[in-house]
Amino acid sequence: MDPSNFLRAYDFSGKTIAITGGGGVLCGELARGLAGCHANVAVLDRDVGLAGKTHATLGGTKGRHKAVYIDVLDRASIEKAASEVVSEYGKIDGLINGAGGNNPKATTNPQQSFFDIPADALQFVSNLNLQGTMLPSQVFGRIMAKQKEGIILNVSSMNAFRPLTRIPAYSAAKAAVSNFTQWLAVHLAQEYSPNIRVNAIAPGFFLTEQNRFLLTDKDTGGLTARGNKIIEHTPMARFGGPEDLVGATLWLLSPASQFVTGVVVPIDGGFSAFSGV
Ligand SMILES: NC(=O)c1ccc[n+]([C@@H]2O[C@H](COP(=O)([O-])OP(=O)(O)OC[C@H]3O[C@@H](n4cnc5c(N)ncnc54)[C@H](O)[C@@H]3O)[C@@H](O)[C@H]2O)c1
Repeated sequence: MDPSNFLRAYDFSGKTIAITGGGGVLCGELARGLAGCHANVAVLDRDVGLAGKTHATLGGTKGRHKAVYIDVLDRASIEKAASEVVSEYGKIDGLINGAGGNNPKATTNPQQSFFDIPADALQFVSNLNLQGTMLPSQVFGRIMAKQKEGIILNVSSMNAFRPLTRIPAYSAAKAAVSNFTQWLAVHLAQEYSPNIRVNAIAPGFFLTEQNRFLLTDKDTGGLTARGNKIIEHTPMARFGGPEDLVGATLWLLSPASQFVTGVVVPIDGGFSAFSGV
């Protein structure tokens, strides 16, 4: 390879990346990282206000950006968002399946045992994380299959490797996202093109609105026992910041990872490597 190609690998000029959940804390930062590397970024979210907020932070970067409504659980809305992206940019180079998360109603606590978690809460979390990854992968994956190239990046989680206490549906759903990442990587490479890749990032612990209630005490603002345990078990001794996810994302969406497919990359300050002793 021409040595300068390695540097150019991170120049996303002319590349279009769509990000579901792009209005959120973590994926908003991924949008900014990609825009900073000159990508065209389509910020897809069910909350158009949040998508617009992320979009507004991309101004001044080189690519053309767009905020688009999507509900990752509604195929018609995914089809509509995908066709808006393709008609604007002509093609799609990458999809980040970022929409996802836990829900307090699907979490065990002193008032709610595992045995009492309502079925609709379990279903909500399972669907959002697993179906919400599979359905956009079907719609955007079909476009990539026709193009004979493209990259899908899923967002898994630490609890996919070993489940975390209290969040059974979220843990199981993210384990399924990791499994699906491997399945789809094999399927698209074998059946359609070796130039379609599918990988995932597995963020460790990032203090965001979805887990603030588990990690910090709402009265004192200090860490809960669970929050403290996480820090003790993280060799780097801190929570991640959204910007910590950007480097691996750029790598997995760029030609620098051209022979990498079907992997789940932990971004966790060493949490998953530490035995505790
Ligand atoms: N926060 C963490 O510590 C952490 C750790 C590991 C993995 N993750 C994963 O990272 C991803 C982003 O998490 P975050 O903390 O930034 O969450 P967030 O709540 O800030 O962002 C999620 C976004 O998804 C959107 N969304 C929700 N349902 C949707 C739907 N049906 N269709 C389209 N958009 C929808 C929301 O409007 C929101 O903008 C999620 O998949 C989450 O599970 C987070």
